Amino acid sequence: MKTVLLKNTDEDISRAGQILRSGGLVAIPTETVYGLAANALNGCAVAKIFEAKGRPQDNPLIVHISELSQWERLVSGIPPQAMALAEAYWPGPLTIILPKSGIIPDEVSAGLDTVAVRFPSMRTTRKIIDAAGVPLAAPSANLSGSPSPTCARHTMDDMCGRIDAVLDGGECNFGVESTVITLAAEVPRLLRPGAVTPEELREVLGEIEIDEAVMGRLKDGVKAASPGMKYKHYSPKAEVTIIKSNLDKFCDFVENMKNEEDTFALCFDGEEKKIRLKCVSYGCEGDSLTQSHRLFTALRELDERGAKTVYARCPSADGVGMAVYNRLLRAAGFSVIEL
Ligand code: TXA
Ligand code: MG
Repeated sequence: MKTVLLKNTDEDISRAGQILRSGGLVAIPTETVYGLAANALNGCAVAKIFEAKGRPQDNPLIVHISELSQWERLVSGIPPQAMALAEAYWPGPLTIILPKSGIIPDEVSAGLDTVAVRFPSMRTTRKIIDAAGVPLAAPSANLSGSPSPTCARHTMDDMCGRIDAVLDGGECNFGVESTVITLAAEVPRLLRPGAVTPEELREVLGEIEIDEAVMGRLKDGVKAASPGMKYKHYSPKAEVTIIKSNLDKFCDFVENMKNEEDTFALCFDGEEKKIRLKCVSYGCEGDSLTQSHRLFTALRELDERGAKTVYARCPSADGVGMAVYNRLLRAAGFSVIEL
């Protein structure tokens, strides 16, 4: 299949809309990461997403809308708490899970009785949804397991030849995926941290629970509330280890490493001179927003430069940092050394 690269023009957006309406797949920009979109109400179109990504069949998709009013027919009802949350943070990088309505195909919900919905803030995303005239199911547009793409080139690297088109909307602003919260449980539960922080969710909802899969590895036999959390994820090919320490201890730790050729440090800006390894940096220490913006690009750069072993400086897990730490922890397959 030839994959067309579309531009962010009205003409190309309307072409993307046509492809989506007729059951094709288009990778689209959003404020978080690029998504691999299909008509959410067409089970056959949605099934092609799983094939293109190599995604496990039991991992449900997020449905994207361009107006608040489109939410109602996707879910069985909108409780006041959910509406308050939407009013506070939509459009934006927040996904809300509720019991689904009858029009959601099983391919979207992967057999669950709930559906995840997001109203993105990026204008181009909303224009594409409008052009398609239907809600769009879209997981991140990476091959399953790889870091999510945050620009059209990364999306092409993974999806060229597998889908109809990629629409180039530039670099994603936030750079890691949306916050996912379920309101289908008794107490609201954070399933995936993102740009909307636990503190911001508590401001609207009061008490929330943080799923144990957010900050650690699920124990054997525990069923994942969010199926995506159980898979190895966001991983470069290299073996990544997070080093929890200050910069001096990190430098001492890597001082005597062998195999320097393919051993890299994933560090913060300005640390390259002190660290005796090849370095890829992913933002300023203490600045979670630059880190979220650059983390996935940095993980892909490590692959491009042939890294086999990577030691990563540990980000702060406060606020937006929880999202950065959560993704890096999965990229590292939960391997953390505390010095
Ligand atoms: O920012 C984002 O959310 C991006 C952009 C494209 O919107 N999308 C995205 O989709 O990250 P995906 O499929 O890569 O991640 C969706 C996550 C998965 O971990 C999935 O298991 C979980 O949300 N999820 C989706 N529907 C769910 C449901 N009904 N119940 C529990 N978890 C659900
Ligand atoms: Mg994903």
